Amino acid sequence: MILVTGGAGYIGGVTAELLLSRGEEVVVLDNLSRGHRLGLLSKTPFYQGNIGDRDLIKRITSEHHIEACIHFAALAYVGESVSDPAFYFRNNVEQGIGLLDGLIEANVKFLVFSSTCATYGEPQKVPIAEDHPQSPTNPYGWSKLFMEKIMDSYDHAYGLKFVALRYFNACGAAGDLGEDHEPETHLIPNVLKAALGELPYLSVFGDDYPTPDGTAIRDYIHVSDLADAHVRALDHLRRGGKSEKINLGNGHGYSVLEVIETARRVTGRDIPNRMEPRRVGDPSTLVANAEYARTVLGWQPQFPELETILQTDWQWRTKQ
Ligand SMILES: NC(=O)c1ccc[n+]([C@@H]2O[C@H](COP(=O)([O-])OP(=O)(O)OC[C@H]3O[C@@H](n4cnc5c(N)ncnc54)[C@H](O)[C@@H]3O)[C@@H](O)[C@H]2O)c1
Repeated sequence: MILVTGGAGYIGGVTAELLLSRGEEVVVLDNLSRGHRLGLLSKTPFYQGNIGDRDLIKRITSEHHIEACIHFAALAYVGESVSDPAFYFRNNVEQGIGLLDGLIEANVKFLVFSSTCATYGEPQKVPIAEDHPQSPTNPYGWSKLFMEKIMDSYDHAYGLKFVALRYFNACGAAGDLGEDHEPETHLIPNVLKAALGELPYLSVFGDDYPTPDGTAIRDYIHVSDLADAHVRALDHLRRGGKSEKINLGNGHGYSVLEVIETARRVTGRDIPNRMEPRRVGDPSTLVANAEYARTVLGWQPQFPELETILQTDWQWRTKQ
């Protein structure tokens, strides 16, 4: 049985559905502070609670034979982490350690962890490979980097085998599961909300970055491709593979203005936008070198085109 923390959230929900479709048994742990994929939760055993609740982890691991954990549960807003770092370090790190300790105590030694390109900070070299220096520009990124370092130590001391997947920008929809954070700070959902008139205009944060059109460049990766990589990471651990840190991106960056232009084509709608100052902690360009994922996991993204990514989200959004 696979314990999926944060399974009521966006990426955890899509991954749990993929696991179920492969005939895996899944149990979900989520405190529902952010996630709300309640449809999924009727198909799996579900525990509502905190990852740092040791008694709860003990209960879950005694009621189910947990072979591995895929750990998505975290707070993930860069801006919020800058204004309230204590909240982020407590939730993502302190509670994360509680989860790891509970897993080790129950002899669960396989972990797939949601890390992020935010652990690299402002890149010195693009595309960013896994050996690029890590120097986050915000507490959210630090919380994920701390967890990577803690997992290294747990591997050394307790034999925890983990794959930390450093996602670039997750996006797109998979069937009836789309990106729906509250509040929504991600670009693609907000571009499409502006197209639908749910937002009066799209805020473009910064047009003075050192990029060709002055807006920030990101590497957008479809949520189904992310989910597939998690299943592959699990298989890697089951094969006896060593602990790894692996980038998940397409290796191609798009600027905010390019995303808006592509969204105009896909939706056929006007997308009003307004230039605003940069957000604190937002690097200018984050693009992955994703070769290592191909080598170690045999991973090949199925939805690399921005247009396709936007179409899947638009179809999901206009069906709601
Ligand atoms: N969305 C992205 O672009 C992106 C990029 C890089 C990394 N990540 C990471 O991927 C993971 C999933 O992201 P998402 O976009 O699906 O987020 P999400 O907010 O949709 O899902 C996270 C889930 O974790 C739960 N949760 C948070 N703290 C918890 C706790 N202490 N105990 C129990 N449950 C808790 C929330 O209720 C939510 O359901 C996160 O760890 C995030 O940092 C996301």
